[in-house]
Amino acid sequence: MTASNGTTSLNDRKATNSAPSADLGARALGDKQFALTAQGADYRFHVDADGELVHDYFGAPAPGLAPWESRGANGWGHKQVDERREFPDHGRGDFRLPAIHVRHGTGSTVSFFEYVGHHIIPGKPKLPGLPATFGTPEDVTTLVVHLEDKRSGIKADLSYSVFPKYNAITRSFTLTNGGTSTIEIQRAASFSIDFGSGDWDMVSLSGEWCREAKETRRKVQIGTQGFQSSTGHSSHYFNPFVALLPSTTTETHGPAYGLSLVYSGSFNVDVERHAFNLVRASIGLNPLHLSWPLAPGESFTTPEAVAVYSSEGLGGMSRNLHSLYRNHLSRSSWTQRERPVLLNSWEGMYFDFTAEMLYTRAKDAAELGVSLFVLDDGWFGDKHPRVHDNAGLGDWVVNPRRFPAGLDAFVKTVNELKVEGGRGPLKFGIWVEPEMVNPSSELYEAHPDWVLHSGTHKRTEMRQQLILDLSKREVQDYIIEAIGKILWSAHIEYVKWDCNRGMHELPSPTTPHAYMLGLYRVLESLTTSFPQILFEGCASGGGRFDPGILYYWPQSWTSDDTDPIERLHIQFGTSLVYPPSSMGCHVSAAPGEQVGRTTPLLFRAHVALMGGSFGFELETEKMSAEERAQVTEIVALAERVNPYVIHGDLYRLALPDESNWPAALYVKPDGSSAVLLAYQIYARIRIDTPLLRLQGLDHAAVYEIDGVHYTGAVLMHVGLKLDWKPEHLPAADHQSKVLFINRV
Ligand code: DGJ
Repeated sequence: MTASNGTTSLNDRKATNSAPSADLGARALGDKQFALTAQGADYRFHVDADGELVHDYFGAPAPGLAPWESRGANGWGHKQVDERREFPDHGRGDFRLPAIHVRHGTGSTVSFFEYVGHHIIPGKPKLPGLPATFGTPEDVTTLVVHLEDKRSGIKADLSYSVFPKYNAITRSFTLTNGGTSTIEIQRAASFSIDFGSGDWDMVSLSGEWCREAKETRRKVQIGTQGFQSSTGHSSHYFNPFVALLPSTTTETHGPAYGLSLVYSGSFNVDVERHAFNLVRASIGLNPLHLSWPLAPGESFTTPEAVAVYSSEGLGGMSRNLHSLYRNHLSRSSWTQRERPVLLNSWEGMYFDFTAEMLYTRAKDAAELGVSLFVLDDGWFGDKHPRVHDNAGLGDWVVNPRRFPAGLDAFVKTVNELKVEGGRGPLKFGIWVEPEMVNPSSELYEAHPDWVLHSGTHKRTEMRQQLILDLSKREVQDYIIEAIGKILWSAHIEYVKWDCNRGMHELPSPTTPHAYMLGLYRVLESLTTSFPQILFEGCASGGGRFDPGILYYWPQSWTSDDTDPIERLHIQFGTSLVYPPSSMGCHVSAAPGEQVGRTTPLLFRAHVALMGGSFGFELETEKMSAEERAQVTEIVALAERVNPYVIHGDLYRLALPDESNWPAALYVKPDGSSAVLLAYQIYARIRIDTPLLRLQGLDHAAVYEIDGVHYTGAVLMHVGLKLDWKPEHLPAADHQSKVLFINRV
């Protein structure tokens, strides 16, 4: 049942989340046909008479669906050129981009991966050395299809897993060289889907430092359109995600497909409309950073890509991704827990602090009701102290001049502070950037060969730093030991792990992927050694905000830009793919450091409430008594809102790109209550503000908002009138409201 405005009611959500039936999951249907069936989606393919895998369908359940009919050879291309192919290889007349492209020992790049068998596994095996979704046999089933290029002996095992509750299908594949000579993998797209013809749009997230996650929608034109990161990290520039939608699909209506790569390194997305108008979309490793040699007997597993389907527009697609990622990807002990309100030292102090200054700030934090005090950059380095950004990275020892009594003694003084409101001892957290080294460091003096470099090419420095080569085992071990030592040395309950530059001169095109495998080994080791620590990813803001990182860490710093107007765009954009629980969002001073805009403290706070990790970066000592009282109230509000952000379903009711009154609604999974965050960017005069139609509620239920009762039907079909009176003048720009909605 769909509400007349196209949104799904609570009852519908309950129905689609019911226990899996016998037809759900991965199945072989009769003669070499396969179905990956979810509660609201079906994915089908079959093996044709030649042994090729042919893609039949991906979309809403379509009982009675017949397999895709091949049109046969035509013109210049072989039959593959207008075929919907499930695992496109290269060199036999399909002139589109392949999912797999290998160079054989002979120098040839022609392959024919044909079907040799399959098996079905309840649950989902781990991917060796890579982050991936997980689940029990009740949550997920896996179909492995075995293919072989019989001329070379290369085997490809395609591994599909279906999570019926979330309309999600994941895929990765493993190549095994069963031949006698070394081959080179040139291209390996984890997922490649051949959609039909018709009008398609694609949606992606792109940006820059301080301007991440800009949602962009464009038509899929004839030819290839795509994007990539070749930075070695997922990057600010583009996010490893693409959505494909018929051009009529909106935020709330119509089919939406999301492809998301569980990976943190260089990636590639291609969307190609070819001569017959069919559209192929693929996502995977960046071929510029691959050329992976595979010796006889060796195997290579691609990162996992996730495909989700929703018939409820981009909003439904996002909720499927959010739920899948919260429940079956992010495995931190913190993922499902509410996060402590924090105060971070960075914007209020930068490198300019002493232990006494920090203690004063920590004391203030505790008095304001803040539960976690975070010491950002600048605490380490002895011979080359980190008192500015041109020295010390790599030397993970506390600066003895800044902390004469040592880190442990300092942390103890912090923990002795009692947080106002009976919130217990103040927690302590710390910043690290372990993948980097300043040439001005003891580490670089001892190991100049440990950095990424390419022969005699200049070692380009960015922010006066170089990157350690994490593809080397000894570098991985150094980081595990050095960071482990710091984390054991004091009562550290939170870590912000930064990464502030892209990879330039590489020893080899294979290095970025080998680096990522090394990084994942380091993260696996540290997160399993310190399961109680709340880790936050950061890469000059959101430069590595991706599903691979989310597997290890439950949250990432969304952007270095904390201006609330900019943040509305960045946070709404980020929420297209990532659960709001994973966004770190802070309140900084006004005028803001980044765009110099002055906005009310309450507005800044209400914008930051959108994220699961709420905090401040303020010079608390400079605040007036009135501001302090306001901050205390904001902390209490943040603690009330946080459970909705961590556990709730997000409905983007109005987008900042489209409306002066953006709004986000977080509905608790049992539907009993919700919180509405609503904003007025600019004051307007003599214009009726649109009624805000809510979503995700129970039509028949009655809800109370600020003492007034409404039926769910009224809230969802008619809408809520928000009173943006100009009586706030002269500060009617940048107004906001937080409203709690309770079923009576
Ligand atoms: C970049 C991060 O994004 C900032 O939040 C801060 O931690 C600095 N690095 C510290 O150098």
